[in-house]
Amino acid sequence: MTKQILLNTLASLNLPSIHYFPSIDSTNTHAMQLLETEVLEDWTLLFAEHQSAGKGRFDRTWITNPEAALAFSLVLIPTEEEQSRLEFFSALGGLAVCKTLRNHYSIESQVKYPNDVLINGKKTSGVLAEADWCDGKPSAVILGIGVNVFSGAIPETIALNFPTTCISNETPQTINRFQLLAQIIEEIQNLRKILHTTQFVEVWNHHLAYKKQAIKIILQDDEFFGICEGVDMNGNLKLKMDNGAIITYRVGDVHLRPLE
Ligand code: BTN
Repeated sequence: MTKQILLNTLASLNLPSIHYFPSIDSTNTHAMQLLETEVLEDWTLLFAEHQSAGKGRFDRTWITNPEAALAFSLVLIPTEEEQSRLEFFSALGGLAVCKTLRNHYSIESQVKYPNDVLINGKKTSGVLAEADWCDGKPSAVILGIGVNVFSGAIPETIALNFPTTCISNETPQTINRFQLLAQIIEEIQNLRKILHTTQFVEVWNHHLAYKKQAIKIILQDDEFFGICEGVDMNGNLKLKMDNGAIITYRVGDVHLRPLE
């Protein structure tokens, strides 16, 4: 029944295949496992109501509570052009969530580089983009997105290292989770068309959190302080140091914190 409602709500998106799981370890892990034995088409969707081993960046755990959140992965088969811009895929997910929040719920949000979505400085969504490789080339990108929709999505049992919110706390509008999912996927479809263009970087910079603010970047055991100067054309984060020099940091490496 729930699966049928999901299929009906997503029908207009023309996704080639939709996998619905009442419970699974992780939609990203499962997509990777499927890719070992099957050919998955571009835009294959895996959606879970509950994840028992949801993953975040840097091996963090991501909790998904039933009916309170969105947890899904899209399998995207990168074109030649996209293969050279793999760093842009996590931003693709985060920016699609930002655009959905603005266009459908009048909520302003920002992307905390490279991929967390913040509303009023609090995290409401996380993105984990992972690549599957074949003969030294990325054969698929698993774009995993988790969204806190209702208050039950916010984990109480783990120590959160960053303030968190959910969409329903930020708007009086009624939210239908499956419609929200359809809206986010539609924004991903639109943004993917400009992934290889400078326009994409402009959208990224427009929604970037902490622009011109003092931030701290944590790289393994080192910390770097400076002013956030935005994202460059290669998707790297620019940090202006006290001496005026600009240092750039690659997507995969960055833990970012505001200095306040
Ligand atoms: C982060 O904030 O560090 C990224 C969180 C990504 C969570 C999503 S939920 C759907 C997909 N499956 C996972 O196991 N992780 C991603």
